[in-house]
Amino acid sequence: MAHIKTNLTRRSLLVAATSVVGASGAAAIAAPFLASWSPSARALAAGAPVEVNISKVEPGQLLRVVWRGKPVWVVNRTDEMLANLPANDANLRDPASAVLEQQPAYTQNAHRSRQPKYLVLVGICTHLGCSPSYRPEVAPEDLGADWKGGWYCPCHGSRFDLAGRVYKNVPAATNLVVPPHYFKDDATLLIGENGNVA
Ligand code: FES
Repeated sequence: MAHIKTNLTRRSLLVAATSVVGASGAAAIAAPFLASWSPSARALAAGAPVEVNISKVEPGQLLRVVWRGKPVWVVNRTDEMLANLPANDANLRDPASAVLEQQPAYTQNAHRSRQPKYLVLVGICTHLGCSPSYRPEVAPEDLGADWKGGWYCPCHGSRFDLAGRVYKNVPAATNLVVPPHYFKDDATLLIGENGNVA
């Protein structure tokens, strides 16, 4: 009886083991299919450029989009905002965008943009990565009479102007990042590619 019992126990184990192999076999059949599309699809989505309709962005308005999991801001700057930019230069750490990593070469200009009015920035503070607040108003009480509009980081007080240029004497050391981008037409901005750069 003891012999029969042992055999039964072995059989039970074998059946159980076979079931497990069967289950993983089924998983193994499904896996090549998943493996064939998942990584490339994910990689594509993660690195894909983002197309943005900018036709409805009013002067002075900021549009928020996401590119590669990061917040990106598109601002339609008014003529007054652009005219105020040079007034900030003496108070800025890098007014001429000399730190090359912070923007593509085609935006290394006084307004840090491809088209003067449209500013495109990665919305992450260059100090420790908080999200700065958009403060486009001129001389608000809490930011002082010299404030010409820009971004204020609530985490440690870094300030950036309306070209994303960092002020002196704040924790952030560099200007906000301008991502690669180009305008497909008057209403369409593509973030993530340089387009035909001359
Ligand atoms: S994270 Fe913005 S000032 Fe520190």
